[in-house]
Amino acid sequence: MEKWTRIAHQPCLPMGKDGRLVTACEEHIRLSRTAATEGMVLLKNEGGVLPLKRGSKAAVFGKGQIDYVRGGGGSGEVTTSYTRNIYEGLKIKEAEGKLQIFDALSHFYEENVKQQYVQGKENGKTVEPAVPEELLQAARRFTDTAVITICRFSGEGWDRKGIPGDGDFYLSPQEQAMVDAVTSAFPRVAVVLDVGGMVDSAWFKDNDRIQSVLLAWQAGIEGGLAVADILCGDVNPSGKLVDTFAGSFDDYPSSANFNESEDYVEYTEDIYVGYRYFETIPGAAEKVNYPFGYGLSYTSFAIEGVSAQLQEMNGVAQIVAQASVTNTGSMAGKEVVQLYYSAPQGKLGKPAKVLGAFAKTRCLQPGETQKVTLNLTVDSMASYDDTGKVAKSAYVMEAGEYAFHLGNSVRNTVELSYRYVEKEDRVTLQLQERVAPVLLKERMLSDGSYEALPVQPDCGIDMSPDFMEGKPPYKGNWAGDAVAQAVGEGAPAEKAMLIDVVNGKVTMEQFLAQLTNGQLIDLLCGQPNTGVANTFGMGNLPEYGVPNLMTADGPAGVRIRPSMGVCTTAWPCATLLACSWNPDIVYEVGAAGAREMKENNLGVWLTPAMNIHRSPLCGRNFEYYSEDPLIAGKMAAAKVNGIQSEHIGASVKHFACNNKETNRKASDSRVSERALREIYLKGFEIAVKEAQPWTLMTCYNLINGRYASEREDLLAGILREEWGFEGMVTTDWWNKAYQYKEIKAGNDLKMGSGDPDEVLAALKEGKVTRAEIETCAARILETIMKLD
Ligand code: BGC
Repeated sequence: MEKWTRIAHQPCLPMGKDGRLVTACEEHIRLSRTAATEGMVLLKNEGGVLPLKRGSKAAVFGKGQIDYVRGGGGSGEVTTSYTRNIYEGLKIKEAEGKLQIFDALSHFYEENVKQQYVQGKENGKTVEPAVPEELLQAARRFTDTAVITICRFSGEGWDRKGIPGDGDFYLSPQEQAMVDAVTSAFPRVAVVLDVGGMVDSAWFKDNDRIQSVLLAWQAGIEGGLAVADILCGDVNPSGKLVDTFAGSFDDYPSSANFNESEDYVEYTEDIYVGYRYFETIPGAAEKVNYPFGYGLSYTSFAIEGVSAQLQEMNGVAQIVAQASVTNTGSMAGKEVVQLYYSAPQGKLGKPAKVLGAFAKTRCLQPGETQKVTLNLTVDSMASYDDTGKVAKSAYVMEAGEYAFHLGNSVRNTVELSYRYVEKEDRVTLQLQERVAPVLLKERMLSDGSYEALPVQPDCGIDMSPDFMEGKPPYKGNWAGDAVAQAVGEGAPAEKAMLIDVVNGKVTMEQFLAQLTNGQLIDLLCGQPNTGVANTFGMGNLPEYGVPNLMTADGPAGVRIRPSMGVCTTAWPCATLLACSWNPDIVYEVGAAGAREMKENNLGVWLTPAMNIHRSPLCGRNFEYYSEDPLIAGKMAAAKVNGIQSEHIGASVKHFACNNKETNRKASDSRVSERALREIYLKGFEIAVKEAQPWTLMTCYNLINGRYASEREDLLAGILREEWGFEGMVTTDWWNKAYQYKEIKAGNDLKMGSGDPDEVLAALKEGKVTRAEIETCAARILETIMKLD
């Protein structure tokens, strides 16, 4: 096949063996199920309730067994041919002779959910019905073992609630009544949480009538079967938390001001996000129900022979830690070894522990041992000094001893005898002030007090006018406009096509020189959908051989216009994938999804999304990985590497600080430069450096008073100059910023539609130059050139 045949001509060419489709094929669906079991977290397991013994009987409570939520809403949604719910998953196990389910009860929920759907309730938004007393008693006569299911739904464009009784972070009164009824009647109770983010755990943690809890997340197309795999012990859970589960919503430091204003969010907890807060700030430790990194298994492990040393590898100083993991129980399983470091408090103040490296074992048989090695670059322990306490605008290793802790959660660690010593304060990287706050009044320090930050009250928020939501892409009307018709200098003697640039016949500069200003401007704007796409394309200059390269969402799978009738694989939500602590499986998910993209003639997959879980309330947390930037960065890098191994572009999003959905297009995230660099940008930095994504998507929101997409210090400065990003930057769809300012900042493409008239006017007024427009156009064309 010739280059660009798929994206330009959209042939129906299945990519599987023997002419079969790879889209939603058996292998991909099996991978989705495997990935799902790999990231489910066993929070509690007492009295041997789980795994359910072979041949045992169970009664399943809760409408969540039918109204199963496989993922969230919005662009993180996909069209599939089916979704396996929990009841169906368990029935498959029943058919295999593994257990018996009390059908009358499940049928009650089935009928009830059906009625609620008829009445207009949507998936995941149904109300928990009261269980009739006689049904409860019949279930009890059938078995002493109950499984309670609870489901949650959230989505793009709105945030969750955190008020007791809300049926969101907390149980609804109806759910609480069901839980009370079941726990009063049954001596053995397991809970399955089908959720996309942090939820209340106080109702089961110390409740000894609930022996087992599986945090099953929203687990994709085969989620219900994956749940059954774990409940029956066909798979041993090995997921570990990537977020701290606190005692209550109010215990999270971000809760205090999450809803303070719709216009801004003050990130006053600074770098003390998630476990960095709970493990450091006096009095916070006791507020944790389940710590970061925690997760049980049906077997037990011993982590022994722990050692560490300093080694020079390729001229880079590394801490190399080793440990032996032995399966000391009676069932095969996997363990996750986590290495944390504690930097000296110094002048800047540090989190008590920071995750530095991790490794997941292979599936170890009982008695089997695996040696794991964890590498941590010494300079990655440096802190960013944004106010000049040690060295202004630099990463510094402060003098003192750096300690290391190794274990299987942030709490369950042993301290290594080895310590790294820094004799004097050392600057590891001198940078310059970028994206600094102007209106953030104060920030938390490591002792829980706050320090005042300088504010510039006159520096008002630089808001742009509304850009019409849903406005379709359009080409500029350049007829008779002399400026629009003007071409550049240095055009080739003969008309060149884009393939001539690929083949080295002409340079990109020569190719661009022959285009009119109008054609160049059009290239910087979203292009109409073709084929099955519904998120628009880029390029589309057929007279110069530039194909129209289609994009598609998203983290949950390849999202195709539902009316096309193409069903794809729904993958487990991003948070579940992160809880696998297994970048290899995330790589596989990336590669499989990319094959579905390619088969459907799509070019850039709008994933991974990787904003930090700052608050449990962010409506899109299910699309994001973790409260920790190392986990987020490693998972995103794995996904991008998987996607791009199939020559499909990834789009890492939403850069950055999109941690709240309410008023997301005009909300200002006010955050210190230190917190930006150490927390909110760090994951993106890892993904860029380890995977070089072809594209990156800026966020809707403002950061420190300016739209991220208009910030040259963020895009030209941090992203390209500091990190070496070589790809193309796109806006999020129909954001509110001015396109000419975005071009100047290095945000190359404006999606879903651009604003050609505005850019031409800016060119005429000298607010943007042809050279700046050409730079963006070149990056867009280079992205297209990477496609097969
Ligand atoms: C979302 C993006 C998504 C885009 C295209 C936006 O509303 O924020 O994540 O990729 O739409 O669907």
